[in-house]
Amino acid sequence: MSFKPIRKAVFPVAGLGTRFLPATKVVPKELLPVVDRPLIQYAVDEAREAGIEQMIFVTGRGKTGIVEHFDIAFELEQTMTERGKDLSVLDCARATPGDVIAVRQQVPLGLGHAIWCARAIVGDEPFAIFLPDELMVARAGGTGCMKQMVEAYNEVGGNLISVLEVPMEQVSSYGVIDPGEVRGALTEVRGLVEKPPRAEAPSNKIVSGRYILQPEVMRVLENQGKGAGGEIQLTDAMAKMIGTQPFHAVTFDGNRYDCGSKVGFVEATLAIALARPDMGAEVRAIALDLLK
Ligand code: UTP
Repeated sequence: MSFKPIRKAVFPVAGLGTRFLPATKVVPKELLPVVDRPLIQYAVDEAREAGIEQMIFVTGRGKTGIVEHFDIAFELEQTMTERGKDLSVLDCARATPGDVIAVRQQVPLGLGHAIWCARAIVGDEPFAIFLPDELMVARAGGTGCMKQMVEAYNEVGGNLISVLEVPMEQVSSYGVIDPGEVRGALTEVRGLVEKPPRAEAPSNKIVSGRYILQPEVMRVLENQGKGAGGEIQLTDAMAKMIGTQPFHAVTFDGNRYDCGSKVGFVEATLAIALARPDMGAEVRAIALDLLK
């Protein structure tokens, strides 16, 4: 069976980033660099690897730098060319003309509301969602999280979310799935609950920041009231779709770093620097020295 291809990705980037203050007072969380690339670029690269063409950013006040990052920096390129500098470092940040679209979420009412703000651009197609502060890193020689999800989508269609397992004492901070039948990396999703108390959590499989959803979710979001934390939650809208359309979770074969938290950000920086051929050995020596 063939399903409509996933051509569009929504990047909700209108959050306030309060956990990362004061760094995020002026600089959007998504532009904080892990080694030498802003967080948003890791997510866009992951989308491109999965064959996605159109990048839709849901931005807010003070977030326009995110869109500019994917523009051509004409003066910079001209000056670098005149000085004989290598321009290839800038290549990856360029977008195909017309493929970057920004919509505005005027008030940060929650992740579900941010996604709904992209409804006119998403239209009647299944689409991907990336939360850029969750940095998903492929295993050496492996593929990225969204590519793994698109491959699973091509088999089962419907809606997919990426999940990972955490110790039970951490579940109350996340969206949690009620798991059904498991087949390899695919788990049927029977239910979803946002930030449940530990005793009521249906599993330790938490929703991590990648989704493939059918466009019907926009109609559910339209009437979605406030949920946990007084925010319009995407998890609540997805929970209503279960039973009406296929719903699966994909356990990502790779590593995930929560760059919305300070410690997670440091962990991601270390992991990526250690894995880089151009600096790994030097960073390892520094880390070992600091640990003495
Ligand atoms: P978070 O829960 O991490 O919120 O949002 P946040 O505002 O970014 O950060 P903290 O918790 O205050 O530190 C998850 C994702 O949803 C987006 C965020 O930008 C982030 O990518 N988001 C959240 C919106 O776009 N709009 C919202 O109203 C809420």
